Amino acid sequence: MSRVDNFLNSFKPAVELFIKHVEDGGKIRIVTHNDSDGLSSGGILCVAAARKGAKFRASSEKKLDDKLIHSLAEEKPDLTIFSDLGSGYLDLISKHIKGDVIVMDHHLPQDYEAENIIHLNPMLHGIDGARDIAASGICYLFAKELDEKNLDLSVLGLIGALGDQQDKGEKKTLIGVNSVIEKDAEDQGFLDKHVGLIFYGYETRPIAKAIAYTTLPFIPGLSGDEGSCVAFLRQIGISITNGEKLRALADLSDDEKRTLFSSLSNHMVSQGCDAGVIHQLLGTIYTFRLEEPSTPLRSGREYASLLNACGRMGRQGVGLSICLGDRDEAMEEAQEILNIYRRKIGSALDWVQVNEKVEELENIYVIRAEDQIDDTVIGVVSGILLGQGILKEAKPIIATAYSDDDQIKVSTRSTEELVQRGLHMGVVMQKVAEELEGGGGGHDIAAGAYVPIDKEDEFIARVNSIVPEQYTK
Ligand code: C5P
Ligand code: C5P
Repeated sequence: MSRVDNFLNSFKPAVELFIKHVEDGGKIRIVTHNDSDGLSSGGILCVAAARKGAKFRASSEKKLDDKLIHSLAEEKPDLTIFSDLGSGYLDLISKHIKGDVIVMDHHLPQDYEAENIIHLNPMLHGIDGARDIAASGICYLFAKELDEKNLDLSVLGLIGALGDQQDKGEKKTLIGVNSVIEKDAEDQGFLDKHVGLIFYGYETRPIAKAIAYTTLPFIPGLSGDEGSCVAFLRQIGISITNGEKLRALADLSDDEKRTLFSSLSNHMVSQGCDAGVIHQLLGTIYTFRLEEPSTPLRSGREYASLLNACGRMGRQGVGLSICLGDRDEAMEEAQEILNIYRRKIGSALDWVQVNEKVEELENIYVIRAEDQIDDTVIGVVSGILLGQGILKEAKPIIATAYSDDDQIKVSTRSTEELVQRGLHMGVVMQKVAEELEGGGGGHDIAAGAYVPIDKEDEFIARVNSIVPEQYTK
């Protein structure tokens, strides 16, 4: 049997257990993570549960720790479902949660088995949880196994993969088990794909805004600065208006698109970006056909960014409402949240750059943001900094920020090249955090941890010393 078949077979006991609890009228508690993958996962589980007539409650959480586990234990649910978190904390879960538990996660699993936990994780079946499927994909496959009606949730199943940057195939396509979900969405007529310039708001936004709003890749001098984008377009002879109307990227002729691409490439080279980063300007655009044109939900990546903004700004309820179908009030609120989120990331990047906050140690880059950058966006900021290609040495970046409860939040981002050489930052975070009275984990390429504030120096020193131990080539 193939790995994928094995993985799909592992869903059956979870589906049976879920149906049993629904039929018994049991209390079901859904606990999901707060980023785009977590929110789309939660959305899928809530819709699937509501369609089955389940009695359930859901929340989206920043992290799984003692405090959350104790408050869940007090609720005494008959069935608790964790999505996009849990795999690294199986011991904590089984120690305190007494009812049945299903964990649907794609993070590095803890080596631990518990009788009351059904654990759905692609990594237990040799499938890459950082590239081949995200938590929203797992939740979608669960929902599909539960009821064929849930095929319409396939687009939500792709959002987590796009938000978690799993588009690692040629021309930024999704790969692995994600392609199975993609096929469901295409077959049902929900999804369209084409290759083009990957800018935020391809169909709908005025060109200057679309370039300014693009942070992946990060275009130095243009990302986050609409005025400079207007000047740039003028300089290369692309008109931003057609009569009264502001032109969108989709309105440009093929020649103009070529000019734009080559001018942007030259600009990025002059700013020190490498060829790999520039190549990221082109990619596969995922269009959700049933969503209104001229809304961010029409484009898979924009949908994911919108959810990420909601979750990381502490407004998970707004994000979940969108996943559940609210296209009115929640959309308006989400747009405002997104604007604030963007400004926050822009000023965090400025703070790092103006104050030259990236320190280079022997084996890692470090940013100590203290209370200057929110712990919820520190990971996004370090990802952008590494993605720019201006940190020239091949080293992962480790960023710290003050968090609640006298803890430090650590976020780390690595590169595909370092992963190929054997570096797994999820393992590094798990190991060092456990040594220092914290908790950590994640993926090879993006991971994180929480540790007591007085352990910050020790944590960084320890990470710096064990990173080279992992390189096999
Ligand atoms: O918790 P979860 O797995 O959903 O989150 C993964 C995080 O890592 C996301 O915020 C995603 O954007 C980030 N990531 C990254 N660079 C990558 C892959 C993932 O910053 N190459
Ligand atoms: O918060 P951030 O985006 O930096 O998280 C990067 C990755 O590390 C995410 O997949 C997140 O779920 C994971 N992580 C973890 N345990 C932690 C902190 C982060 O597994 N304590």
